[in-house]
Amino acid sequence: MAGLLIDNIGSLVTNDPSLGDGPLGLLSDAALVVADGVVAWAGPRRSIPEGAATERVDAGGRAVLPGFVDSHGHLAFAGDRTAEFAARMSGQPYTAGGIRTTVAATRAASRTDLGGTVAVLVAEALRSGTTTIECKSGYGLTVADEQRSLEVAAAHTDELTFLGAHVVPPEYADRADDYVDLVCSTMLDACAPTARWIDVFCERGAFDGDQTRAVLRAGVARGLVPRLHANQLGPGPGVQIAVEFDAASADHVTHVTDGDVEALAASRTVATLLPGAEFSTRAPYPDARRLLDAGVTVALAADCNPGSSFTTNMPFCIAVAVREMRMTPDEAVWAATLGGARALRRSDAGHLGVGARADVVLLDAPSHVHLSYRPGVPLVARVWRGGVAAGEDRSPTPAEPSG
Ligand code: NIG
Ligand code: FE
Repeated sequence: MAGLLIDNIGSLVTNDPSLGDGPLGLLSDAALVVADGVVAWAGPRRSIPEGAATERVDAGGRAVLPGFVDSHGHLAFAGDRTAEFAARMSGQPYTAGGIRTTVAATRAASRTDLGGTVAVLVAEALRSGTTTIECKSGYGLTVADEQRSLEVAAAHTDELTFLGAHVVPPEYADRADDYVDLVCSTMLDACAPTARWIDVFCERGAFDGDQTRAVLRAGVARGLVPRLHANQLGPGPGVQIAVEFDAASADHVTHVTDGDVEALAASRTVATLLPGAEFSTRAPYPDARRLLDAGVTVALAADCNPGSSFTTNMPFCIAVAVREMRMTPDEAVWAATLGGARALRRSDAGHLGVGARADVVLLDAPSHVHLSYRPGVPLVARVWRGGVAAGEDRSPTPAEPSG
């Protein structure tokens, strides 16, 4: 077997309970073999297969885990909302309407600049350990601008979501249903071939339940799979609609009733929590504990966007989720890896079982718990995506003699 051996791993999160302890499939004193871009073997060091690899990396007793799967991002945008953020921190509320500021800037940007922003943010995310990232349209809101956003993002990810129903654009003010008709017809015809997912911002100030259903139906008719912005700013029908449509994910899930929680628990729909949004809008956090205790599958994502959560940093989200949303450090790491993969209905990502894509993160820490124990510290030492190293080890330990 010609491949890469990551050896001398102090603590390995596989997310494969058949390989190690608990839901994280945790192994100590472990090793990982990568061949042809996938995991070929994972297990205790003492059982490394003979002649397993041609290249050896010494993890120096540090922790290794799957790359983060960030299942919610709005990366195709232009412009800046620093002033809106500063005003918010001086007491102004966050509203859905701020999106229109970014829409104007995005429409005015060149294709090159728009693609450049996506590239910079995807690279930034990769440096902090994100190896799979979803990207939505939603700041163009014309047929051509929505299509362009998806096209520039397609150079960086396959997880593309059509979000033409992000907000009603200004030229359709007072004609929201005409805009919904456009989204459901010409806009979807143009965008569906480039996208995998259909999303709607189901919220007061954006789209109501009937409009949301109409857009999801039109997307499903064109082969897209639903995911939904649901119950972010207040209670509403979003979660129930997500379940009704067997959506892969209901995202935000901040203001929920017991009925919403029960509906999620009885469904295949993942609850994707986005702590960056509550952090940056100074809003109450979703109660992850309540969802987990009810049996809901929970994912964590960064929700990178210029308005409500301008971060690509999954370790930051993990730390906030643990501190503010009553998740355990283990639950938060699972939610940011395998949880994200579930929210994207991916079986090849979010874990390090044999055959998984070799998306691997090496931490400058002895355990994955340090991601929440040492908030704000850049612990990601090295990242491999599909078995390819995305950069040099930031702080290599002296290689110990092998054999
Ligand atoms: O997920 N909620 C809708 N979309 C983004 C916010 C977008 C914006 O404010 O520009 C979100 O938080
Ligand atoms: Fe969002």
